[in-house]
Amino acid sequence: MGAGKTTLGAALAELLGRPFVDVDAEIEERAGTSIAEIFRESGEARFRELEEEGIREALRASEPAVIALGGGALGSGATRALLNARAFTVLVEVDPSVAWERASATGRPLAREEGQFHSLFAERLPVYEATADARASDVDGAVLAAAGVHVGLGALDELGSLVPGDGPVALVADPRVGGIHGAAAQLALGDRLVSTHELPAGEEAKTVAALERLWSELRLDRRGTLVALGGGCTTDAAGFAAATYLRGIAWVPVPTSLVGQVDAGIGGKTALDLPGGKNLVGAFHWPARVVIDPALLETLPHVERAEGRAEVVKTGLLAGEPLWELPEPELVRRCAAVKAAYCIRDPLDRGPRAALNLGHTFAHALEAAGGYSELTHGRAVGLGLHAALRLSVEHAGLDPSALRTLGEALPLEPARVDRDRAWAALRRDKKVESGRVRLVLLEAPGRPLTGVELPDDAVRAALDGLIAG
Ligand SMILES: NC(=O)c1ccc[n+]([C@@H]2O[C@H](COP(=O)([O-])OP(=O)(O)OC[C@H]3O[C@@H](n4cnc5c(N)ncnc54)[C@H](O)[C@@H]3O)[C@@H](O)[C@H]2O)c1
Ligand SMILES: [Zn+2]
Repeated sequence: MGAGKTTLGAALAELLGRPFVDVDAEIEERAGTSIAEIFRESGEARFRELEEEGIREALRASEPAVIALGGGALGSGATRALLNARAFTVLVEVDPSVAWERASATGRPLAREEGQFHSLFAERLPVYEATADARASDVDGAVLAAAGVHVGLGALDELGSLVPGDGPVALVADPRVGGIHGAAAQLALGDRLVSTHELPAGEEAKTVAALERLWSELRLDRRGTLVALGGGCTTDAAGFAAATYLRGIAWVPVPTSLVGQVDAGIGGKTALDLPGGKNLVGAFHWPARVVIDPALLETLPHVERAEGRAEVVKTGLLAGEPLWELPEPELVRRCAAVKAAYCIRDPLDRGPRAALNLGHTFAHALEAAGGYSELTHGRAVGLGLHAALRLSVEHAGLDPSALRTLGEALPLEPARVDRDRAWAALRRDKKVESGRVRLVLLEAPGRPLTGVELPDDAVRAALDGLIAG
């Protein structure tokens, strides 16, 4: 009561593209009268019956929804069992005195006397704690909890308790990250750690040869968990190993690069590259948990950090907020929540998640033209955003000031790659997507358009604008 569930729930539902059901409001609407009135006329017992029924119905709906429960709802054993079976339950944390201030202002029947309110709060708390799958105090916290993403300074040191279950663990890292943070991860994993493995640094990790080595080294059984410590290349490749080894074992990415923490480590897309293109082989394999420790970014080389900002800018453009201006730990948490929300909304990438590809059609073409070694993914995405926003101004009504904002956040430095090779790569992308380039544009910050088809010459001109010489 007074935790702000209705406000938070509505915002959460909006973000996840799900219906919102406020059980108290539903009961009032159905009864045609207020809860206070139901208490007075028929008693609390009758209200609890109606409440149980309302919750049962909401949880039975075939489309997943965000459901806000009244403060006393968990008094029912039947409701607790149903939540256990059908829901991911988030406890919205609130200070009891704040809750009292809010609840007493609403005239609710059980919020009329402060002493009584506080004892009720204390009595209910253990039941909430026993039923909740996670706790949160804001919308981002609820999204991250639902996605299994843990963000916190010092999280690496808690890795042992953050990896779900109690089965054996194998740790995978590239030589650089393993050399810097491997020992801390090993220490934190303690007795559960049964083996450590190395993947090559960079895109070299995302090859069949590297995977074959890793598959043959692994000695985990089906209860095992693979922990992937590193940037997006490590987590993409190790995640694919987890998706395929023994037909799929649990995995926990611990992203260590900026690209990884705001994007690649979240959402369960795993992938390998083929000589013909990036990410052409892969699987959706949702992690058992994602552990993000922004403190790990301190050892990230300056260039990686600067170029990784492109994914932050992309996320901010999609969210319609200048997230790139935030201080780092907060920036990571906000971006991770935006990414997580897209992935919960569309886990198999069949609809709205495509928006995360803003700038990426161009980025992948530049990366391919540079043989995957000329420019990093982050740098390519930065360039791709310039092309996507330019086309958005020309074809989607985006206000030109957005281009200026982008230029300030990410100055445009054209790439040194071959124009024809880049265009050919972009066209190959086209074939994969059934004959047409389908772009993500922005109508306005926070309002992406997916599946936009434009004439070839417009697309080519935008691509050419990213290439030097
Ligand atoms: N799966 C997804 O949803 C998704 C999303 C975005 C990008 N990606 C993929 O991610 C890859 C790019 O990821 P990346 O930029 O993290 O590349 P990366 O994994 O190659 O890491 C970049 C470099 O930074 C080093 N590094 C990473 N963390 C470090 C740290 N804390 N301290 C010191 N050095 C550190 C690595 O050793 C590496 O040399 C691309 O292959 C891209 O396709 C995947
Ligand atoms: Zn990307």
